[in-house]
Parts: sequence; C-alpha cells; structure tokens
Amino acid sequence: LPPLPDGYHIRKICSDDYGRGALEVLKALTTVGEITNKEFEHTIETWARHPEIYHTLVILDLSETVVAIGSVIVESKLIHHCGKVGHIEDIAVRPNQQGKKLGCTLIRHLIKIAGSLDCYKVILDCDPANEMFYAKCGLSKAGTEMQFRF
Ligand code: ACO
Repeated sequence: LPPLPDGYHIRKICSDDYGRGALEVLKALTTVGEITNKEFEHTIETWARHPEIYHTLVILDLSETVVAIGSVIVESKLIHHCGKVGHIEDIAVRPNQQGKKLGCTLIRHLIKIAGSLDCYKVILDCDPANEMFYAKCGLSKAGTEMQFRF
C-alpha cells in the first residue's frame, strides 16, 4: 500500500469524526445537507450493525482533521458461486489536500478490504472527468452507468 504523508493516518470512521470535519470533506463530492451530530451517529451505528457490509475509512492529518473519506460496500450475490462484489462509494478528498495521493491511497486500502473479504471484483460509478484518477489507482473502464432518479 502507498505510504501516507508523515503524521497522517487511516482508520475506520467513528462517531467523533463529525467534529473532525468528515461532512465538510464530503461536500467536495456533492450536496450533503445540514446533518446533526445525532443523525451522523445514527448512520454510523446503522453501518456498525452490518460490519460485514459497510466499510468506511477516513484519513486524518496531523491535527486530527478528516482530509479524505470513502467507502466500500460488500454485496453478497448468488452468481459466481455466491460471490461478493465490492462497491466503492462516496470518495472525497478535502480540496486543499488534493494532489497528495490521498485519494489513491484510500482506494488501495478499500480494494484491500474487499480482497480480504473474498470479493471477486470491485466496481464504481464516476464522472468521466475522474476516469484518469481511477485508472491511476489501478482500475479499468468497464460498462456504462445507467440510473433512474427519484
Ligand atoms: N483527472 C486526471 N487525473 C487525476 C484527477 C483527475 N480528475 N484527479 C487525480 N488525478 C491523478 C493525479 O494527478 C495523480 O496522478 P500521478 O500519480 O500521475 O501524480 C493520481 O491521479 C492520483 O491522484 P491523488 O493525489 O491520489 O488524487 P486526490 O487525492 O486529489 O483525489 C479525487 C482525487 C478523489 C477525485 C479528489 O480530487 C476529489 O475529492 N474530488 C472531488 C470529489 C470527487 O469527484 N470524488 C470522486 C467521486 S466518484 C466516487 O465516489 C465513486
């Protein structure tokens, strides 16, 4: 796995990351909304009840501020002999920390988790503008994204 800058570390998300700026980082990705500390904790607790499915990692800097966040969701299937697929979701790096390889390091850790849980592949949807980023993290283009929006 690629090294992090000195003093940075990566770990599972926890409820206290609300106060460490986890939601600010996600705002680099999309609309987050005004989430209260209690709502944040509720979601973390929901994930914690299904530890085999939800895996969200954060990278923190020297000042214990969240600088990157991302998840892999492990889906159990019937096909491929009851195989598992990892879905990489909601990757974001704090704008003033982009370009330091934090994004790629996070992706490599998420792929390692999926591999250790015997997933036969890891997939994600992204904007075409991010294709080169994911290619540099070792992923290759496959298929077309479709959606139905409510
Ligand atoms: N286009 C082309 N190359 C890129 C891009 C890009 N948009 N972003 C990064 N790269 C390249 C870097 O230059 C670097 O190349 P190098 O190894 O030759 O030097 C390599 O990819 C690795 O880049 P990192 O430094 O690891 O990327 P960073 O930490 O800046 O994170 C990310 C990239 C996550 C896309 C960040 O810019 C970000 O948070 N953007 C806003 C939110 C977003 O779009 N997230 C992805 C959504 S898709 C999903 O969640 C499944």
